[in-house]
Amino acid sequence: MTSESKASSYTASISYDRRLYRQDIAGSVAHARMLGKQGIISEKEAESIVTGLISIRQEIEDGSFPWREELEDLHMNIEARLFEKIGDVAGKLHTARSRNDQVATDMRLYCKEATQGILEGIKALQAAILATAEAHKGVVIPGYTHLQRAQPVLLSHHLLAYFHMLQRDRERFRDGLARTDVLPLGSGALAGVPYPIDRESVARELGFSRISQNSMDAVSDRDFLVEHHAASAICMMHLSRLAEELVLWSSQEFDFIRLDDAYTTGSSIMPQKRNPDFAELARGKTGRVYGHLVGILTLLKGLPLTYNRDLQEDKEGFFDTVDTLHSTLEAFAGMVSTLRVNTQRTSQAAGDGYILATDLADYLVRKGEPFRSAHRIVSELVRSAESDGKGFQQLSLQEYRHFSPRFQEDVYAINVDSSIASRDVPGGTAPRRVEEALREARRLLEEALGG
Ligand code: ARG
Repeated sequence: MTSESKASSYTASISYDRRLYRQDIAGSVAHARMLGKQGIISEKEAESIVTGLISIRQEIEDGSFPWREELEDLHMNIEARLFEKIGDVAGKLHTARSRNDQVATDMRLYCKEATQGILEGIKALQAAILATAEAHKGVVIPGYTHLQRAQPVLLSHHLLAYFHMLQRDRERFRDGLARTDVLPLGSGALAGVPYPIDRESVARELGFSRISQNSMDAVSDRDFLVEHHAASAICMMHLSRLAEELVLWSSQEFDFIRLDDAYTTGSSIMPQKRNPDFAELARGKTGRVYGHLVGILTLLKGLPLTYNRDLQEDKEGFFDTVDTLHSTLEAFAGMVSTLRVNTQRTSQAAGDGYILATDLADYLVRKGEPFRSAHRIVSELVRSAESDGKGFQQLSLQEYRHFSPRFQEDVYAINVDSSIASRDVPGGTAPRRVEEALREARRLLEEALGG
């Protein structure tokens, strides 16, 4: 650091960017080796720089590294320490490099690793959802629209809906990885560097599959972060929806499931309560992840090319999003695999009321009634049954026939099981379709675990 760039706690980033130390040191090691190989510095100088960097990494890991806020950021802290360790040759590391291409490289390396961690977390939750779906194959619940009981469905079918949301999340993160996997190092401050560097070899050493194509874009591009934030926000939205269902289902009103004690807490004054804190917090934490997405978009929108110090603000929100998503995925995997289903309650709820009304309409359609008028007939029938306080099974054939002469004795064969079995289309809730869907989900997961 030069004397004119005096750091203050306002401009310092060391409290949070130290988290990039492994990536920063890996980038510096690859850069120094390349400088040596290209004869830009001597091989011996490169070797001493690399040795110094590795011992610095050791110090950071064992907690003995002397962090200094007045040195502003991670890069300056490491460089200053390198001087202390190997003397003036340390000054050669920053040849053909700037903190601008350096920090962009660190962030991409970090984002790649974080994405791998998130992908693992998503897979683990998918596995938990699938196992729970497989363990409750015959269980029927009411399916809802507008949070009104609509049609009976298999619980496994409902759970697999979340498996598929998470499958898309995985695709999104993997897709973003392709654009993150680009090496900016070698772009210098903004215009490239006046040394015969070998960018491809640095890319290979750091595990990047491509190098950036435009130095000015490369030092200021944070699109990969925006994409990561967006994928995270969507994934959190899915988890928040699941959270909401777990909150509803574990309430006394629904009483469909019981969450494990590890994921609920009692109230300090109302001893009967089992608050679903993990689910609620996941729903709540979704807000900050959305906030960070808007934060990074807003950070970038007014920036002229190329690097601007604003970009330092790309870090805290990103780290927070990575941590939040990671811990939420982990909590959900545990919560979903330990929940218990109250099958007595679910089957009672699924058979209750007029949930088979659509099936009655479809019955009339099979007897020749057009769907629209069948729908009207059944609405009238439901209204009258409701005012008489009768369920479908309690209506006499005569009462049925009062609404349509197409009703016959076989109307009594309509029940929850026949309703579910009749949704026998690809993507439907019929048991054999769900069986197929479970197998397909298993296949998708195993494919992912293999690759
Ligand atoms: N701490 C800075 C950041 O995170 C590193 C790059 C600083 N570059 C500069 N020209 N001041 O963005």
